[in-house]
Amino acid sequence: MHKIDIDLVEMTMDVMKYTIDRISHTKQKIGKPKREEELKALVGETVTSEGIGGEYAFKLWRKHLAKANVQVDHPRNLAFVPASPTRAAIMFDLVTSVSSIHGAYWMEGAGGIFCENEAMRWIVSLTGLPEGAFGVFTSGGTAANLSAIVAGREYWRSLDEQNKVEKGLIITSIGAHSSIKAMAKVVDVDVLLVDTEDVLEGNALKSTIAKLTQHQRQRLFAVVATGGTTNAGIIDDLSGIAEVCKKEQLWFHVDAAYGGGALAADSVRHLFNGIEHADSITIDPHKWMFSPYDCGAVIYKNPELAKRAHSQQGSYLDIFKDEGAHGFNPTDYQIQLTRRVRGLPLWFSLATNGTDRYKAAVERGLELAQIAGRMIENSEHLELVRAPSLSCVLFRRKGWLPVNYTNWTYENHKKGFALVTPTKWKQGEHFETVSRFCFINPDTTESDIQLILDSMV
Ligand SMILES: Cc1ncc(COP(=O)(O)O)c(C=O)c1O
Repeated sequence: MHKIDIDLVEMTMDVMKYTIDRISHTKQKIGKPKREEELKALVGETVTSEGIGGEYAFKLWRKHLAKANVQVDHPRNLAFVPASPTRAAIMFDLVTSVSSIHGAYWMEGAGGIFCENEAMRWIVSLTGLPEGAFGVFTSGGTAANLSAIVAGREYWRSLDEQNKVEKGLIITSIGAHSSIKAMAKVVDVDVLLVDTEDVLEGNALKSTIAKLTQHQRQRLFAVVATGGTTNAGIIDDLSGIAEVCKKEQLWFHVDAAYGGGALAADSVRHLFNGIEHADSITIDPHKWMFSPYDCGAVIYKNPELAKRAHSQQGSYLDIFKDEGAHGFNPTDYQIQLTRRVRGLPLWFSLATNGTDRYKAAVERGLELAQIAGRMIENSEHLELVRAPSLSCVLFRRKGWLPVNYTNWTYENHKKGFALVTPTKWKQGEHFETVSRFCFINPDTTESDIQLILDSMV
């Protein structure tokens, strides 16, 4: 038993060394997927009645399987929303695992939840929400958006008996993340999309509401604004939308899953003005707050309303709510019961590095987007689709068709050189295929950007 333990510890050290050594090294290739049958042919049967042994399984992992994953933190991975967890956060993710903490109730996970709450206090302070606002860590932005929509819908239902038999309706824009529409399906509410991929303005919201039928208006309970659209980094008119929501008595949710990290950056903080009026906010620490997967967060102006929506009841759970077990129970504020204390790596990283280094790292992502924008403007064969917004840059290669963007993406990925993917940008009725950078990793260099742009010639 002892022998095995030591082997496992050595193996874990090996994984850590392997992981830590490759962080932000561009000499390391970006991994690429293989077909399932190819992987099977390489590794054979791995789950057998006898077991294949940890050492051999680990060998297979290193030799074949690890390379079939894309490292989201590679400095030339600028696709989707990449990530860049700090070393401190990665190390503490291991500590979180070995600590086996049940993070649902204070009675079981007080130490871990205490640390999560310390980190959460910093995040809440960035939003400017009033005293009493607080949040919890979720598995990601999707779960945070779902938790917020449920809280808003349950509040609306509590206001009027008639609302209990109506199907709710929310308004957002076509720039909102796919998870808003997906989660509305889960909650069974309708979504009305304002047809703009650009800033959703308060006035556009006002006129959309004015055009609703009486029944639609009765069903309308929330508006979802985006604090950094995934496609283009656009921040909606949060002040204008907040004003309309206040007047119309609607739940105001801000999805800042991607952009929320930029609340820490002084240079762009003013773009988020109005977020302090939100009823709920989604922010993903596993995006621009340098946490490992998976770590999202949902914050409420009035956590009591979320508790009414989410607190689970059961005789076996009563003890957790007893005075003797008194404390903050994260399960009460989102959809999950048993949960990992997934805010713990963020806490350790914040404690280790200090919040100023977080500010600086986010500012570097913003700066990289501006640098990339200038490089694109100075290039003969490239063009900006729009000015960089937050850390997103949309640009076109003059003369390219959609197939050229796809082939270019595959070529760079196959070489293990870079992952930059195409997207579409809507102008009027027309969708144009373009390329897109999203910067998160502060270790991405100007030379990385130049190399990628040069590969488009
Ligand atoms: C604005 C926005 N909202 C929600 C999500 C979903 O977050 P997750 O993938 O963590 O569930 C994303 C993911 O990119 C996002 O950018």
